[in-house]
Amino acid sequence: MAKEYNENLYESIQHPDFFNQSQLELVRSGYWNLYNDVIKDQNLTIADDEYFRINEVNFLKHDDIDWCQIVGKIYDTAEYQVQQKIQIDFNQNEPMRFVESYKDWLRDIIEIMEQRFADIGRPSKIKAIAFHNFSAGLKIHCDGQDINIKLKRAVPRPTNHPNYTKEQYQPGMYTKYAHQGLINIDSLPDKATIIFDQWFPYSTYYDIINTVETLDEPARPVISFAKDESLERFDEHIRDLTGETFNRKHYIEMIESRWQNELPLAKFHGLSLNKILYFGQPGTLISWDNKRYHMAKPFLVSGHHGIGSENRLMLQYESVCL
Ligand SMILES: [Fe+2]
Repeated sequence: MAKEYNENLYESIQHPDFFNQSQLELVRSGYWNLYNDVIKDQNLTIADDEYFRINEVNFLKHDDIDWCQIVGKIYDTAEYQVQQKIQIDFNQNEPMRFVESYKDWLRDIIEIMEQRFADIGRPSKIKAIAFHNFSAGLKIHCDGQDINIKLKRAVPRPTNHPNYTKEQYQPGMYTKYAHQGLINIDSLPDKATIIFDQWFPYSTYYDIINTVETLDEPARPVISFAKDESLERFDEHIRDLTGETFNRKHYIEMIESRWQNELPLAKFHGLSLNKILYFGQPGTLISWDNKRYHMAKPFLVSGHHGIGSENRLMLQYESVCL
């Protein structure tokens, strides 16, 4: 039977000047228009001692862009406390302003990106595009194909965990994901994503020092591999596990000492470093296979979580095979 995932593995790459200056400007200026539109749309009043950061703007494309979600927070700049959370979700029953107003702009960006992917020997079609301006990192996970969405969101785990039948876990439709990545729009060049060699055909978390009670992602216990659990699930297994302690030299390179309590060496047991992909200058692309485990290189944006002082704005994408 043909595999439901792409059997090739894309190399992890950093590609400077993926966007030229005018393409970068098209993306950047559009993003800040959108930021101002969110303020208007939500009637936000942002006081002089407050700061509004949009952490995520997510768009999905099927035949066309047809879904959007926006998540942000207002902080005070004295104590850096969250004053207000903003979340705008797509509602199927009414046309969404942010999908409608930004469709043409997004179509242009996608066209440029798909042309550039072809130019650099990674032809693929964009399925999801997002703007991330995170102030905290993401844990070890892989993206791409989801299991059945209801099972993915089940909390607590069903009693037959991990013995799910194919009927329970299989998604409505399988998609052959290609590569994913980030383009630096407005971030310092020393921020990075860490890519591991290991991969799994479904989106999952690798969280082997936590128990189910203490997971990095408590809302996703079904798709988290926790402490002492089998590394097989959904009739699949994690590829290329080493069974050994993570390389100490790579560990020091990846995890600065201030983070080592939170992210101890044992957390990476069984993994090996594929590449640390630094964001580089604005316009630079970093890209890796959609199935590979990865995480943000731990960071602090300057100030307190960069409130009002530093952006870490990246265009994120996921793509599928042609
Ligand atoms: Fe990811």
